Amino acid sequence: MKTRFYTGIVFCAIFGFLLIQCQDMSNETETLAKPELYQERHRPQFHFSPKEKWMNDPNGMVYYQGEYHLFYQYYPDSSVWGPMHWGHAISRDLVHWEHLPIALYPDSSGYIFSGSAVVDWNNSSGFGTPEEPPLIAIFTYHDVKGEKAGTNTFQDQAIAYSIDNGRTWTKYDGNPVIPNPGIRDFRDPKVIWDPESEQWIMVFAAGNQVKIYGSQNLKKWRHLSDFGEEYGSHAGVWECPDLFPLWLEEEQKHHWVLLLSINPGGPNGGSATQYFVGDFDGRQFVLDERFRTAVEKSKTGAEQAVWLDYGRDNYAGVTWADVPKEDGRRIFIGWMSNWDYAKVVPTETWRSAMTCPRSLTLRPTIAGPRLVQNWVDELKTLERVSSEIPPTKVSNTFDLIDQGPDEAVQSHVELKMKILSEDVSSFGITLFSAAGDSYILGYSIADGHFFSDRRKAGDHSFSDEFASEKHVGPHLLAGDTMNFDILIDRSSIELLADNGSLALTELFFPTSDFNRVTFFSHGGEVEVSGSLKKVASIW
Ligand code: FRU
Repeated sequence: MKTRFYTGIVFCAIFGFLLIQCQDMSNETETLAKPELYQERHRPQFHFSPKEKWMNDPNGMVYYQGEYHLFYQYYPDSSVWGPMHWGHAISRDLVHWEHLPIALYPDSSGYIFSGSAVVDWNNSSGFGTPEEPPLIAIFTYHDVKGEKAGTNTFQDQAIAYSIDNGRTWTKYDGNPVIPNPGIRDFRDPKVIWDPESEQWIMVFAAGNQVKIYGSQNLKKWRHLSDFGEEYGSHAGVWECPDLFPLWLEEEQKHHWVLLLSINPGGPNGGSATQYFVGDFDGRQFVLDERFRTAVEKSKTGAEQAVWLDYGRDNYAGVTWADVPKEDGRRIFIGWMSNWDYAKVVPTETWRSAMTCPRSLTLRPTIAGPRLVQNWVDELKTLERVSSEIPPTKVSNTFDLIDQGPDEAVQSHVELKMKILSEDVSSFGITLFSAAGDSYILGYSIADGHFFSDRRKAGDHSFSDEFASEKHVGPHLLAGDTMNFDILIDRSSIELLADNGSLALTELFFPTSDFNRVTFFSHGGEVEVSGSLKKVASIW
């Protein structure tokens, strides 16, 4: 009897224990259950982001046989920066992306830092055949051992080639192609074929300058000139240059544009991209006279710069190589983050996304040619439900979008504004979340600038630098009308204003998704009209 009793007790105890364990486990699987891929909180729905882990600069952008290649600085073992690889994705339409295996791994020569890629159409390198031209990737080797040992020669330029449409890559055994002469920051090569001087041209950042090299075969390079010591902002390290021609219809000529990223020292702090407009004669980049006054030191010695984007979150952007002549576009993409806080932003499985691809053109101004940005037309293929806003007079607020509590705003918002009263002090849009967060993007007439205010837009506890103040950008066109062309994608907003002359790209991390957007006008009446389109997810 006794034994039976004890057996009973033991049985109950074991059963009870197992029951508790099972419950525990089910709780555990509940809490550990990962949200579905691409459904994670804050995950952009129509911007490129890696499936998982850390990403920074876009690299090696080249178009070949119907595919836009996008490589990127990638660390597959963590969602914080580490030994750099080149991640890889391709797209046929610049909006849908297919992830491919890692293209370049670090090796005994170092990490694979930023760089570019080109189609070697005439097989000048000899790695392919003229019938099947090779793709050549040009990148920086970053030798951590050398860096730790305190040398200044730990970065140099190297190449790799692919003869299977970029699917697999072989590093050149004659690397480096440009060894480091003793310059600490010596990186981020961008290559273009210059048909005028019939040579490959490479630009890369070297200390406080851009170095320009020329080559016939992508293996042997000759130093041609340097640019930039006396121009633009030098408040931080120069990185990721890009040099390319753009046709200016009104002047019936090509001008050359030099993009140059700088960290820190951006107009609103941290990383940002400045640019220069000039000419290139196959050897030297010379500033357009009209542009020079905008980027040379002022009489007081203050540095001046012209910025590609005034937001905090568009860095290290460059343009695609080999977009077919019939297409003719110069297409740009940037890394939508900032080194001030990129490593600590509150996303879980992945870190960082790219901007929406933008097509770059030049427009004439009295101060000389300036860049204009537009979303690539392919974005339209994602636009779904569309509604028009007829001209509406607003003297307080006006509802634009209301998604209901469970749906995040994922929209293309185009607005035209006419200022009807002299008393208007500011106008713009506010994004609201059900959790009580708000984000404001607008124009202040009193201050004469655009502004982005993410101070109440949700979580910014991860960094003091994320939302300490409003971020502002200049208004470049005169008149009493204005236009906003805005993309909102869960945790980012990109504004193109003044017909694409002003860009402002910013991140935010609302406590619950922004699901409502209103237009506001303070102080007086503004007439607003435009269109609202939902943008479909690409995943
Ligand atoms: C720019 C940059 C580049 C460098 C890369 C390293 O964001 O610092 O200069 O090549 O990132 O990941």
